Amino acid sequence: MILAIESSCDDSAICITEIETKKVIFHKRISQEAEHSKYGGVVPELAARMHADNLPEILQEVDCYFENIKAVAVTNAPGLTVSLMEGVMMAKAISLALNVPIVPINHIKGHIYSVFIEKESVFPLSALVVSGGHTQVIEAKSYNNMKIVASSMDDSIGEGFDKVAKMLGFDYPGGPIIEKMAKNGDKNRFKFTVPLKNKKEIEFSYSGLKNSIRLAIDELGENISEQDKKDIAASFQKVAFEHLFDKLRRYFDMIRPKIFAVVGGVSANEYFREHLVVLCLKYEIEPIFAKLEYCSDNAVMIARAGLDAFFQERFVGFEELDVKSRVDLESE
Ligand code: KG4
Ligand code: ZN
Repeated sequence: MILAIESSCDDSAICITEIETKKVIFHKRISQEAEHSKYGGVVPELAARMHADNLPEILQEVDCYFENIKAVAVTNAPGLTVSLMEGVMMAKAISLALNVPIVPINHIKGHIYSVFIEKESVFPLSALVVSGGHTQVIEAKSYNNMKIVASSMDDSIGEGFDKVAKMLGFDYPGGPIIEKMAKNGDKNRFKFTVPLKNKKEIEFSYSGLKNSIRLAIDELGENISEQDKKDIAASFQKVAFEHLFDKLRRYFDMIRPKIFAVVGGVSANEYFREHLVVLCLKYEIEPIFAKLEYCSDNAVMIARAGLDAFFQERFVGFEELDVKSRVDLESE
């Protein structure tokens, strides 16, 4: 079995997966959403402190598997340095205690592998990573050959959802709340501009759209009603995704991947999934999504990426293992 640890942001998670069958034997995630919600976003030091409590608590539940563990996989980049440290320190301790190698995993690769849980991995593919930290298009030829071909110039799409929710007076994380509000809102009431519509480059931007939302909220002033908020949520959601679709159309016009994987927390959004499937159908591309439970951060995807890395013996020595807050996939 392989034991995997994820602690790059505000989820503390541990997974145990059987190496031969790829079967998930155990997975537990302790989310810190409620604690960070008070501050309107993730507070790194608080996240690290909570990982220091949560990870050992989860680990206690899996000590019965220790004798079967052949490697420990751990997210070591990218993410919040102080949060990543907690997982990496635990991985080092386990490696020493059980005398097993460490497999460092890039969090973004982990998200891509979320579509291969309990399955064989299939390459080549293109992937869209839409999360709290990233909006990226990645071309993946294999585990070792992944290239970022488009990314955001400023905020990520997930941050956009979180900030708009905050402006409307809702808790963190904002994505699920905005999606729910949008269901009963008029998506055509506010005419927000689709970002970078006239630019042919494939890149993303959400800070301008966020500012337009702020202006609309300010204009409504104190008398903003529940229905106004629903309409803003729906109008924002429509344009936020239209921006993705606009750029994806340009991308598919140039490169038509056989498989298009859509991963990360934002990929749980139903409105987005429905429209993306229609777009892919038009281009005769097969869209693949992770199961809803594996869209947001989890250790199952880290274990799954860890399996492919394990078979390639991509181990690092105890001293070499370090955390990186930012890392280019290609430089790995
Ligand atoms: O992948 P993830 O769990 O963490 C990162 O690696 O960043 O993504 C979290 C992000 C948050 O910004 C959250 O608001 C967003 O995913 N999110 C959603 C939905 N569920 C989560 N955004 C839009 N619609 C959703 N249903
Ligand atoms: Zn993530």
